[in-house]
Amino acid sequence: MSATPSEYLVREAVDPERVAKRFPSDFVWGVATSAFQIEGTTAGDGRGPSIWDEFCEQPGVILDGSNGRDACQHVQRWESDLDLIASLGINHYRFSISWPRVQPEGQGAWNEAGLAFYDRLVDGMLARGIQPHVTLYHWDLPSGLQAQGGWQSRETVAHFVDYARKIGALLGDRSASIATHNEPWVVATLGHQHGIFAPGLRDRRAATQVSHHLLVSHGDALTALRADGVRCPLGIVLNQAPVHAATALVEDRLRAQLEDGELVRWYMDPLMKGAYPADVLAHLGTDAPKILSGDFARIGVPLDFLGINYYTRNIAIASGRYDPTSSGLELTDMGWEVFPAGLTELLTRLHRDYQLPPIYITENGAAYPDECVAGVVDDAARVRYLDAHIQAVATARDAGVDVRGYFAWSLLDNFEWAHGYTKRFGIVHVDYATQQRTPKASALWYRDLQRTFRDRKGGVVRRVHDREPS
Ligand code: FCB
Repeated sequence: MSATPSEYLVREAVDPERVAKRFPSDFVWGVATSAFQIEGTTAGDGRGPSIWDEFCEQPGVILDGSNGRDACQHVQRWESDLDLIASLGINHYRFSISWPRVQPEGQGAWNEAGLAFYDRLVDGMLARGIQPHVTLYHWDLPSGLQAQGGWQSRETVAHFVDYARKIGALLGDRSASIATHNEPWVVATLGHQHGIFAPGLRDRRAATQVSHHLLVSHGDALTALRADGVRCPLGIVLNQAPVHAATALVEDRLRAQLEDGELVRWYMDPLMKGAYPADVLAHLGTDAPKILSGDFARIGVPLDFLGINYYTRNIAIASGRYDPTSSGLELTDMGWEVFPAGLTELLTRLHRDYQLPPIYITENGAAYPDECVAGVVDDAARVRYLDAHIQAVATARDAGVDVRGYFAWSLLDNFEWAHGYTKRFGIVHVDYATQQRTPKASALWYRDLQRTFRDRKGGVVRRVHDREPS
Protein backbone atom coordinates (compact mmCIF):
# COMPACT_ATOMS: atom_id res chain seq x y z
CA MET A 1 0.00 0.00 0.00
CA SER A 2 1.42 3.35 -0.95
CA ALA A 3 -0.10 6.72 -0.21
CA THR A 4 0.58 10.12 -1.65
CA PRO A 5 2.61 12.44 0.58
CA SER A 6 -0.47 14.54 1.24
CA GLU A 7 -2.49 11.56 2.37
CA TYR A 8 0.29 10.47 4.65
CA LEU A 9 0.60 13.86 6.35
CA VAL A 10 -3.09 14.20 6.82
CA ARG A 11 -3.53 10.76 8.27
CA GLU A 12 -0.88 11.54 10.82
CA ALA A 13 -2.84 14.59 11.87
CA VAL A 14 -6.49 13.54 11.81
CA ASP A 15 -7.79 10.02 11.51
CA PRO A 16 -11.11 10.13 9.59
CA GLU A 17 -12.34 7.01 11.37
CA ARG A 18 -12.08 8.72 14.71
CA VAL A 19 -14.64 11.33 13.71
CA ALA A 20 -16.75 8.99 11.59
CA LYS A 21 -17.49 6.68 14.46
CA ARG A 22 -19.37 9.43 16.25
CA PHE A 23 -22.08 9.36 13.54
CA PRO A 24 -24.77 6.86 12.57
CA SER A 25 -24.55 5.11 9.24
CA ASP A 26 -27.54 6.98 7.81
CA PHE A 27 -25.97 10.40 8.40
CA VAL A 28 -25.90 12.44 5.18
CA TRP A 29 -22.45 13.52 3.96
CA GLY A 30 -22.28 15.85 1.01
CA VAL A 31 -20.61 18.72 -0.77
CA ALA A 32 -22.11 22.04 -1.83
CA THR A 33 -21.74 24.61 -4.62
CA SER A 34 -23.89 27.37 -6.08
CA ALA A 35 -24.74 28.18 -9.68
CA PHE A 36 -23.15 31.60 -10.12
CA GLN A 37 -19.96 30.54 -8.37
CA ILE A 38 -19.19 27.61 -10.67
CA GLU A 39 -21.29 27.54 -13.83
CA GLY A 40 -19.86 30.16 -16.19
CA THR A 41 -21.67 30.52 -19.57
CA THR A 42 -23.48 33.52 -18.15
CA ALA A 43 -24.28 34.92 -21.59
CA GLY A 44 -24.81 31.74 -23.58
CA ASP A 45 -27.51 29.12 -24.01
CA GLY A 46 -30.31 31.64 -23.61
CA ARG A 47 -29.49 32.59 -20.03
CA GLY A 48 -30.56 36.09 -19.01
CA PRO A 49 -28.39 38.47 -16.98
CA SER A 50 -28.50 38.37 -13.19
CA ILE A 51 -27.83 41.05 -10.61
CA TRP A 52 -24.45 39.44 -9.97
CA ASP A 53 -23.43 39.82 -13.63
CA GLU A 54 -24.34 43.49 -13.41
CA PHE A 55 -22.69 43.98 -10.02
CA CYS A 56 -19.41 42.54 -11.32
CA GLU A 57 -19.40 45.22 -14.00
CA GLN A 58 -19.17 47.99 -11.42
CA PRO A 59 -15.59 49.14 -10.94
CA GLY A 60 -13.94 48.27 -7.68
CA VAL A 61 -16.58 46.00 -6.16
CA ILE A 62 -14.91 42.64 -6.90
CA LEU A 63 -11.47 42.36 -5.34
CA ASP A 64 -9.72 41.01 -8.46
CA GLY A 65 -12.05 42.71 -10.95
CA SER A 66 -13.35 39.30 -12.06
CA ASN A 67 -16.83 38.02 -12.89
CA GLY A 68 -18.77 34.80 -13.35
CA ARG A 69 -18.38 34.47 -17.12
CA ASP A 70 -16.11 31.45 -16.97
CA ALA A 71 -15.96 30.50 -13.29
CA CYS A 72 -15.36 26.73 -13.22
CA GLN A 73 -16.96 26.16 -16.63
CA HIS A 74 -19.31 23.77 -14.93
CA VAL A 75 -21.91 24.12 -17.69
CA GLN A 76 -19.40 22.44 -20.03
CA ARG A 77 -17.77 20.20 -17.46
CA TRP A 78 -20.75 18.99 -15.44
CA GLU A 79 -20.29 15.35 -16.38
CA SER A 80 -16.69 15.15 -15.26
CA ASP A 81 -17.58 17.21 -12.18
CA LEU A 82 -20.20 14.64 -11.25
CA ASP A 83 -17.65 11.89 -11.93
CA LEU A 84 -15.35 13.69 -9.54
CA ILE A 85 -18.00 13.75 -6.78
CA ALA A 86 -18.66 10.05 -7.35
CA SER A 87 -14.95 9.27 -7.34
CA LEU A 88 -14.72 10.79 -3.87
CA GLY A 89 -17.47 8.44 -2.73
CA ILE A 90 -19.78 11.38 -1.99
CA ASN A 91 -23.49 10.56 -2.29
CA HIS A 92 -25.12 13.94 -1.67
CA TYR A 93 -24.66 17.09 -3.69
CA ARG A 94 -26.16 20.46 -2.83
CA PHE A 95 -26.26 22.82 -5.81
CA SER A 96 -28.38 25.77 -6.86
CA ILE A 97 -30.45 26.55 -9.90
CA SER A 98 -29.68 29.76 -11.76
CA TRP A 99 -33.07 31.44 -12.04
CA PRO A 100 -32.02 33.54 -15.09
CA ARG A 101 -30.80 30.39 -16.83
CA VAL A 102 -34.25 28.83 -16.67
CA GLN A 103 -36.29 32.04 -16.91
CA PRO A 104 -34.19 34.80 -18.49
CA GLU A 105 -36.42 37.70 -17.40
CA GLY A 106 -37.54 36.20 -14.08
CA GLN A 107 -41.11 36.14 -15.40
CA GLY A 108 -42.75 35.00 -18.58
CA ALA A 109 -40.92 32.75 -21.02
CA TRP A 110 -38.87 29.75 -19.88
CA ASN A 111 -35.52 28.90 -21.43
CA GLU A 112 -35.77 25.29 -22.56
CA ALA A 113 -31.99 24.95 -22.84
CA GLY A 114 -31.62 26.00 -19.20
CA LEU A 115 -34.31 23.62 -17.99
CA ALA A 116 -32.71 20.84 -20.02
CA PHE A 117 -29.35 21.54 -18.39
CA TYR A 118 -30.67 20.93 -14.88
CA ASP A 119 -32.75 18.00 -16.08
CA ARG A 120 -29.60 16.31 -17.39
CA LEU A 121 -27.58 17.34 -14.36
CA VAL A 122 -30.02 15.70 -11.97
CA ASP A 123 -30.28 12.56 -14.08
CA GLY A 124 -26.49 12.52 -14.17
CA MET A 125 -26.38 12.59 -10.38
CA LEU A 126 -28.88 9.79 -10.01
CA ALA A 127 -27.01 7.68 -12.56
CA ARG A 128 -23.92 8.03 -10.38
CA GLY A 129 -25.68 7.32 -7.09
CA ILE A 130 -25.60 10.97 -6.00
CA GLN A 131 -28.67 12.45 -4.30
CA PRO A 132 -29.59 15.94 -5.59
CA HIS A 133 -30.22 18.69 -3.00
CA VAL A 134 -31.64 21.70 -4.80
CA THR A 135 -31.38 25.34 -3.69
CA LEU A 136 -33.72 27.59 -5.62
CA TYR A 137 -32.17 30.95 -4.83
CA HIS A 138 -28.47 31.41 -4.19
CA TRP A 139 -28.48 35.17 -4.91
CA ASP A 140 -28.58 35.42 -8.72
CA LEU A 141 -31.82 37.33 -9.25
CA PRO A 142 -32.70 37.92 -12.93
CA SER A 143 -31.82 41.54 -13.74
CA GLY A 144 -35.22 42.05 -15.31
CA LEU A 145 -36.80 41.70 -11.89
CA GLN A 146 -34.27 44.01 -10.25
CA ALA A 147 -35.28 46.67 -12.79
CA GLN A 148 -38.78 46.42 -11.30
CA GLY A 149 -37.59 46.76 -7.71
CA GLY A 150 -36.19 43.27 -7.13
CA TRP A 151 -36.84 41.89 -3.66
CA GLN A 152 -38.00 45.30 -2.47
CA SER A 153 -41.09 44.72 -4.57
CA ARG A 154 -43.81 42.40 -3.39
CA GLU A 155 -44.33 41.34 -7.02
CA THR A 156 -41.08 39.41 -6.85
CA VAL A 157 -42.65 37.08 -4.29
CA ALA A 158 -45.19 35.88 -6.83
CA HIS A 159 -42.55 35.53 -9.55
CA PHE A 160 -40.39 33.45 -7.21
CA VAL A 161 -43.32 31.15 -6.48
CA ASP A 162 -43.91 30.61 -10.23
CA TYR A 163 -40.24 29.78 -10.63
CA ALA A 164 -40.26 27.45 -7.62
CA ARG A 165 -43.28 25.59 -9.04
CA LYS A 166 -41.58 25.17 -12.40
CA ILE A 167 -38.52 23.64 -10.75
CA GLY A 168 -40.71 21.56 -8.45
CA ALA A 169 -42.51 20.12 -11.48
CA LEU A 170 -39.22 19.46 -13.26
CA LEU A 171 -37.08 18.08 -10.43
CA GLY A 172 -39.31 17.52 -7.40
CA ASP A 173 -39.72 13.79 -7.85
CA ARG A 174 -35.98 13.24 -8.36
CA SER A 175 -34.62 15.53 -5.64
CA ALA A 176 -33.62 14.55 -2.13
CA SER A 177 -34.55 18.01 -0.85
CA ILE A 178 -35.42 21.50 -2.04
CA ALA A 179 -34.41 24.65 -0.16
CA THR A 180 -36.00 27.94 -1.10
CA HIS A 181 -33.39 30.52 -0.11
CA ASN A 182 -29.73 30.46 0.75
CA GLU A 183 -28.82 32.91 3.51
CA PRO A 184 -31.52 35.58 3.28
CA TRP A 185 -29.54 37.68 5.81
CA VAL A 186 -26.73 38.00 3.26
CA VAL A 187 -29.12 39.00 0.46
CA ALA A 188 -30.84 41.60 2.62
CA THR A 189 -27.99 42.97 4.72
CA LEU A 190 -24.87 42.63 2.55
CA GLY A 191 -26.78 43.27 -0.69
CA HIS A 192 -29.12 46.08 0.35
CA GLN A 193 -27.72 47.66 3.53
CA HIS A 194 -23.94 47.39 3.32
CA GLY A 195 -23.88 47.35 -0.48
CA ILE A 196 -20.94 44.96 -0.72
CA PHE A 197 -22.92 42.25 -2.55
CA ALA A 198 -25.38 42.58 -5.45
CA PRO A 199 -27.43 44.63 -6.01
CA GLY A 200 -25.14 46.96 -4.04
CA LEU A 201 -27.68 49.17 -2.24
CA ARG A 202 -26.99 51.03 1.00
CA ASP A 203 -30.45 51.47 2.42
CA ARG A 204 -31.49 49.86 5.70
CA ARG A 205 -35.18 50.38 5.06
CA ALA A 206 -34.81 48.55 1.74
CA ALA A 207 -32.87 45.77 3.43
CA THR A 208 -35.52 45.01 6.03
CA GLN A 209 -38.25 45.01 3.39
CA VAL A 210 -36.17 42.63 1.29
CA SER A 211 -35.70 40.27 4.24
CA HIS A 212 -39.45 40.25 4.78
CA HIS A 213 -40.24 39.54 1.13
CA LEU A 214 -37.65 36.77 1.03
CA LEU A 215 -39.34 35.13 4.00
CA VAL A 216 -42.84 35.52 2.54
CA SER A 217 -41.62 34.10 -0.77
CA HIS A 218 -40.09 31.17 1.08
CA GLY A 219 -43.36 30.34 2.84
CA ASP A 220 -45.45 30.81 -0.28
CA ALA A 221 -43.12 28.61 -2.30
CA LEU A 222 -43.35 25.81 0.30
CA THR A 223 -47.13 26.03 0.30
CA ALA A 224 -47.29 26.00 -3.51
CA LEU A 225 -44.83 23.11 -3.88
CA ARG A 226 -46.79 21.06 -1.37
CA ALA A 227 -50.08 21.86 -3.15
CA ASP A 228 -48.43 20.71 -6.38
CA GLY A 229 -47.65 17.37 -4.76
CA VAL A 230 -43.88 17.77 -4.43
CA ARG A 231 -43.00 15.20 -1.81
CA CYS A 232 -39.30 15.65 -1.10
CA PRO A 233 -38.33 17.50 2.12
CA LEU A 234 -38.69 21.29 1.78
CA GLY A 235 -36.83 23.89 3.80
CA ILE A 236 -34.68 26.99 3.94
CA VAL A 237 -30.97 27.63 4.55
CA LEU A 238 -29.86 30.27 7.06
CA ASN A 239 -26.41 31.56 7.90
CA GLN A 240 -26.25 31.54 11.66
CA ALA A 241 -23.60 32.09 14.32
CA PRO A 242 -23.30 32.78 17.99
CA VAL A 243 -22.62 36.46 18.54
CA HIS A 244 -20.07 37.13 21.25
CA ALA A 245 -19.38 40.50 22.82
CA ALA A 246 -15.84 41.72 22.14
CA THR A 247 -15.41 42.66 25.81
CA ALA A 248 -17.40 42.39 29.03
CA LEU A 249 -18.35 46.06 28.73
CA VAL A 250 -22.08 46.58 28.93
CA GLU A 251 -22.23 48.42 25.59
CA ASP A 252 -20.55 45.50 23.82
CA ARG A 253 -22.90 43.05 25.50
CA LEU A 254 -25.92 45.05 24.39
CA ARG A 255 -24.50 45.26 20.90
CA ALA A 256 -24.09 41.47 20.85
CA GLN A 257 -27.71 41.04 21.88
CA LEU A 258 -28.88 43.29 19.07
CA GLU A 259 -26.71 41.56 16.46
CA ASP A 260 -28.00 38.21 17.65
CA GLY A 261 -31.46 39.62 17.07
CA GLU A 262 -30.58 40.77 13.56
CA LEU A 263 -28.80 37.59 12.47
CA VAL A 264 -30.46 34.74 14.36
CA ARG A 265 -33.82 35.79 15.78
CA TRP A 266 -34.87 38.00 12.83
CA TYR A 267 -35.06 34.83 10.73
CA MET A 268 -35.75 32.10 13.27
CA ASP A 269 -38.58 33.91 15.08
CA PRO A 270 -40.85 34.51 12.07
CA LEU A 271 -40.13 31.01 10.76
CA MET A 272 -40.82 29.34 14.11
CA LYS A 273 -42.68 31.78 16.35
CA GLY A 274 -44.78 33.96 14.04
CA ALA A 275 -43.25 37.37 14.80
CA TYR A 276 -40.14 39.49 14.43
CA PRO A 277 -38.14 40.05 17.62
CA ALA A 278 -39.46 43.08 19.49
CA ASP A 279 -36.01 44.43 20.39
CA VAL A 280 -34.92 44.53 16.75
CA LEU A 281 -38.19 46.12 15.63
CA ALA A 282 -37.76 48.80 18.30
CA HIS A 283 -34.19 49.39 17.16
CA LEU A 284 -35.26 49.70 13.50
CA GLY A 285 -38.00 52.21 14.22
CA THR A 286 -39.25 53.57 10.90
CA ASP A 287 -36.87 51.27 9.01
CA ALA A 288 -38.97 48.27 10.03
CA PRO A 289 -40.56 46.46 7.07
CA LYS A 290 -44.12 46.90 5.97
CA ILE A 291 -45.93 43.73 6.99
CA LEU A 292 -49.36 42.80 5.66
CA SER A 293 -51.88 40.92 7.72
CA GLY A 294 -51.48 37.20 7.20
CA ASP A 295 -47.78 37.44 6.35
CA PHE A 296 -46.58 35.60 9.45
CA ALA A 297 -48.95 32.72 8.78
CA ARG A 298 -47.53 32.52 5.27
CA ILE A 299 -43.92 32.60 6.48
CA GLY A 300 -44.39 30.13 9.31
CA VAL A 301 -45.57 27.08 7.37
CA PRO A 302 -43.88 23.95 8.76
CA LEU A 303 -40.35 23.21 7.59
CA ASP A 304 -39.32 19.66 6.73
CA PHE A 305 -35.75 20.65 7.46
CA LEU A 306 -33.64 23.66 8.37
CA GLY A 307 -30.27 24.17 6.71
CA ILE A 308 -27.59 25.91 8.76
CA ASN A 309 -24.47 27.43 7.22
CA TYR A 310 -21.70 28.02 9.75
CA TYR A 311 -18.20 29.36 9.21
CA THR A 312 -17.19 31.27 12.36
CA ARG A 313 -18.57 33.11 15.36
CA ASN A 314 -19.48 36.80 15.13
CA ILE A 315 -17.92 39.35 17.43
CA ALA A 316 -19.91 42.43 18.42
CA ILE A 317 -18.23 45.64 19.38
CA ALA A 318 -20.09 48.86 20.17
CA SER A 319 -17.44 51.24 18.89
CA GLY A 320 -14.37 50.79 16.73
CA ARG A 321 -13.42 47.61 14.94
CA TYR A 322 -12.74 44.20 16.39
CA ASP A 323 -9.25 42.95 15.65
CA PRO A 324 -9.59 39.23 14.84
CA THR A 325 -5.93 38.64 15.65
CA SER A 326 -6.56 39.73 19.25
CA SER A 327 -8.25 36.44 20.22
CA GLY A 328 -5.16 34.40 19.42
CA LEU A 329 -7.35 31.96 17.47
CA GLU A 330 -6.16 30.59 14.16
CA LEU A 331 -7.54 32.61 11.22
CA THR A 332 -8.52 31.36 7.78
CA ASP A 333 -7.61 33.16 4.56
CA MET A 334 -10.85 35.15 4.92
CA GLY A 335 -9.52 36.45 8.23
CA TRP A 336 -12.26 34.46 9.98
CA GLU A 337 -11.51 32.84 13.34
CA VAL A 338 -11.45 29.06 13.42
CA PHE A 339 -14.02 28.53 16.15
CA PRO A 340 -15.62 25.07 16.01
CA ALA A 341 -17.07 25.36 19.52
CA GLY A 342 -19.34 28.07 18.08
CA LEU A 343 -21.11 25.48 15.96
CA THR A 344 -21.98 23.35 19.00
CA GLU A 345 -23.00 26.48 20.88
CA LEU A 346 -25.22 27.64 18.02
CA LEU A 347 -26.92 24.29 17.53
CA THR A 348 -27.61 23.66 21.21
CA ARG A 349 -28.94 27.21 21.60
CA LEU A 350 -31.30 26.86 18.61
CA HIS A 351 -32.43 23.51 20.03
CA ARG A 352 -33.14 25.17 23.38
CA ASP A 353 -35.00 28.20 22.00
CA TYR A 354 -37.00 26.71 19.11
CA GLN A 355 -38.97 23.61 18.15
CA LEU A 356 -36.55 22.62 15.44
CA PRO A 357 -37.20 20.45 12.42
CA PRO A 358 -34.35 18.10 11.41
CA ILE A 359 -31.17 20.12 10.87
CA TYR A 360 -28.65 19.81 8.06
CA ILE A 361 -25.36 21.68 8.11
CA THR A 362 -25.68 22.86 4.52
CA GLU A 363 -22.35 24.72 4.42
CA ASN A 364 -19.17 24.61 6.45
CA GLY A 365 -15.64 25.07 5.27
CA ALA A 366 -12.66 27.38 5.08
CA ALA A 367 -10.52 29.30 2.61
CA TYR A 368 -6.77 28.75 2.60
CA PRO A 369 -4.17 29.93 0.10
CA ASP A 370 -3.72 26.45 -1.37
CA GLU A 371 -1.09 25.69 -3.91
CA CYS A 372 -0.94 22.74 -6.21
CA VAL A 373 2.60 21.38 -6.25
CA ALA A 374 3.31 18.49 -8.58
CA GLY A 375 -0.33 17.45 -8.49
CA VAL A 376 -0.60 17.54 -4.70
CA VAL A 377 -2.44 20.10 -2.58
CA ASP A 378 -1.55 19.50 1.04
CA ASP A 379 -4.26 21.50 2.81
CA ALA A 380 -3.74 20.05 6.25
CA ALA A 381 -5.24 23.19 7.84
CA ARG A 382 -8.53 22.58 6.01
CA VAL A 383 -8.55 18.96 7.16
CA ARG A 384 -8.15 20.13 10.73
CA TYR A 385 -10.92 22.70 10.20
CA LEU A 386 -13.35 20.15 8.77
CA ASP A 387 -12.49 17.56 11.40
CA ALA A 388 -12.99 20.02 14.27
CA HIS A 389 -16.33 21.25 12.92
CA ILE A 390 -17.63 17.77 12.22
CA GLN A 391 -16.64 16.88 15.80
CA ALA A 392 -18.58 19.97 16.93
CA VAL A 393 -21.65 18.63 15.11
CA ALA A 394 -21.20 15.28 16.85
CA THR A 395 -21.07 17.03 20.20
CA ALA A 396 -24.31 18.86 19.42
CA ARG A 397 -25.92 15.57 18.42
CA ASP A 398 -24.76 14.04 21.70
CA ALA A 399 -26.53 16.92 23.42
CA GLY A 400 -29.78 16.00 21.66
CA VAL A 401 -29.80 18.22 18.56
CA ASP A 402 -31.29 16.36 15.59
CA VAL A 403 -28.58 17.05 13.00
CA ARG A 404 -28.92 14.65 10.10
CA GLY A 405 -26.35 15.78 7.59
CA TYR A 406 -23.27 17.81 6.77
CA PHE A 407 -22.26 19.42 3.47
CA ALA A 408 -18.72 20.68 3.01
CA TRP A 409 -18.39 24.06 1.32
CA SER A 410 -17.21 23.67 -1.33
CA LEU A 411 -16.66 20.94 -3.86
CA LEU A 412 -14.54 23.27 -6.01
CA ASP A 413 -12.53 26.44 -5.61
CA ASN A 414 -14.86 28.99 -7.16
CA PHE A 415 -15.98 32.61 -7.54
CA GLU A 416 -16.10 33.84 -3.96
CA TRP A 417 -18.43 36.81 -4.54
CA ALA A 418 -16.78 40.16 -3.69
CA HIS A 419 -13.46 38.33 -3.25
CA GLY A 420 -13.55 37.06 -6.83
CA TYR A 421 -11.21 34.13 -7.36
CA THR A 422 -8.77 35.19 -4.63
CA LYS A 423 -10.18 32.84 -1.97
CA ARG A 424 -10.11 29.07 -2.31
CA PHE A 425 -12.82 27.20 -0.41
CA GLY A 426 -12.74 23.98 -2.45
CA ILE A 427 -11.80 20.53 -1.30
CA VAL A 428 -10.86 20.23 -4.95
CA HIS A 429 -8.32 22.70 -6.36
CA VAL A 430 -9.17 24.47 -9.62
CA ASP A 431 -6.46 25.85 -11.88
CA TYR A 432 -8.50 28.57 -13.60
CA ALA A 433 -6.13 28.83 -16.57
CA THR A 434 -6.50 25.17 -17.50
CA GLN A 435 -9.67 24.30 -15.55
CA GLN A 436 -7.75 21.33 -14.18
CA ARG A 437 -9.36 19.89 -11.03
CA THR A 438 -7.06 18.37 -8.39
CA PRO A 439 -8.52 16.79 -5.25
CA LYS A 440 -6.80 18.35 -2.25
CA ALA A 441 -5.72 16.29 0.74
CA SER A 442 -9.00 17.39 2.37
CA ALA A 443 -11.01 15.78 -0.44
CA LEU A 444 -9.12 12.52 0.07
CA TRP A 445 -9.67 12.77 3.81
CA TYR A 446 -13.39 13.38 3.23
CA ARG A 447 -13.46 10.40 0.89
CA ASP A 448 -11.88 8.25 3.56
CA LEU A 449 -14.42 9.43 6.09
CA GLN A 450 -17.25 8.32 3.81
CA ARG A 451 -15.47 5.08 3.09
CA THR A 452 -15.59 4.25 6.77
CA PHE A 453 -19.38 4.26 6.55
CA ARG A 454 -19.45 2.30 3.35
CA ASP A 455 -17.22 -0.29 4.97
CA ARG A 456 -19.47 -0.36 8.03
CA LYS A 457 -22.53 -0.92 5.85
CA GLY A 458 -20.68 -3.49 3.81
CA GLY A 459 -21.41 -1.45 0.70
CA VAL A 460 -19.35 -0.92 -2.39
CA VAL A 461 -16.47 1.53 -2.17
CA ARG A 462 -15.99 3.63 -5.28
CA ARG A 463 -12.37 3.98 -6.24
CA VAL A 464 -10.76 7.32 -6.73
CA HIS A 465 -9.22 7.45 -10.21
CA ASP A 466 -5.70 8.65 -9.59
CA ARG A 467 -5.05 8.39 -5.89
CA GLU A 468 -6.05 4.89 -4.98
CA PRO A 469 -3.51 3.11 -2.79
CA SER A 470 -2.20 0.32 -5.00
C1 FCB B 1 -21.61 31.58 2.20
C2 FCB B 1 -22.24 31.44 0.84
C3 FCB B 1 -21.43 30.63 -0.13
C4 FCB B 1 -19.94 30.87 0.03
C5 FCB B 1 -19.52 30.78 1.47
C6 FCB B 1 -18.07 30.97 1.69
O1 FCB B 1 -22.10 32.74 2.80
O2 FCB B 1 -23.52 30.86 0.94
O3 FCB B 1 -21.90 30.91 -1.42
O4 FCB B 1 -19.61 32.06 -0.55
O5 FCB B 1 -20.23 31.72 2.23
